[in-house]
Amino acid sequence: MNVLAFNGSPRMKKGVTDSLVQTFLDGAESAGAQTETVYVAKQKIKYCVGCFKCWFKHPGKCIHDDDMLMIRKKIKAADIIVFGCPVYFDGFTAQMKTMLDRLIAGGSPFIENRDGHARHPSHGKERKVRKMLLISTCGFGERDNFDPMIHHMQAIARNFATGEYMGALVRPMGQTMEMLEPEKPEAVKAIRDAFYKAGVEAVTLGRISDELQDAVAAPLISFEEFVQRSNALFKDLIAQNQA
Ligand SMILES: Cc1cc2nc3c(=O)[nH]c(=O)nc-3n(C[C@H](O)[C@H](O)[C@H](O)COP(=O)(O)O)c2cc1C
Repeated sequence: MNVLAFNGSPRMKKGVTDSLVQTFLDGAESAGAQTETVYVAKQKIKYCVGCFKCWFKHPGKCIHDDDMLMIRKKIKAADIIVFGCPVYFDGFTAQMKTMLDRLIAGGSPFIENRDGHARHPSHGKERKVRKMLLISTCGFGERDNFDPMIHHMQAIARNFATGEYMGALVRPMGQTMEMLEPEKPEAVKAIRDAFYKAGVEAVTLGRISDELQDAVAAPLISFEEFVQRSNALFKDLIAQNQA
């Protein structure tokens, strides 16, 4: 089984997203999967310009000759696709969205009725189902900060001719969690272990239980403590940076 992960954070390996995605992939590998991570910010991906030449002039082929060809090949070979991306202004990062827009070249202009909704089929006859999973983190502490991205991920999976939404592993207060790790090692370990187990479940069961989706989002500190600690830290950072 091939698990392909995209990391849409511009901070790539230095970010919280990466540590969560890699822990999930470690779990997937322990269950026998082959995994690969594509750091989207490192790829050469031009913006979609909306010319529709990939639909009408040379079907399936984009006017841009860049890393999207390689990415589309990897998607074709994947059984599970992980969209790892932090929340930026309540949604996907620009890097991830730029890649997602370019996937239009893999679809056909024709419209079919799928479950009573107009959808585009994919090019060719290929009908392999790809499970799609969101792994995300954000700065704030409320789980509802991920709602727009989860809705977006679900819609993308429905729009993909061969997509199936698998769930969302979302970690609020990602950076705060990393800072709290020395102070609350057991609580943070339980969260990291849940990401690992989710990787195992994804491969062995083809789904991720609600329990694990809840466990990765477990609260670590109260709202009041979060606000107080964050503001104290920001004050220090401003003082240090401007000294
Ligand atoms: C441009 C920008 C926009 C952000 N928008 C949000 C937001 O809307 N909500 C939120 O809770 N965190 C927001 N954050 C915080 C990031 O989600 C957080 O720093 C996260 O840890 C980044 O992931 P990374 O460490 O993998 O890069 C934003 C950060 C940046 C730089």
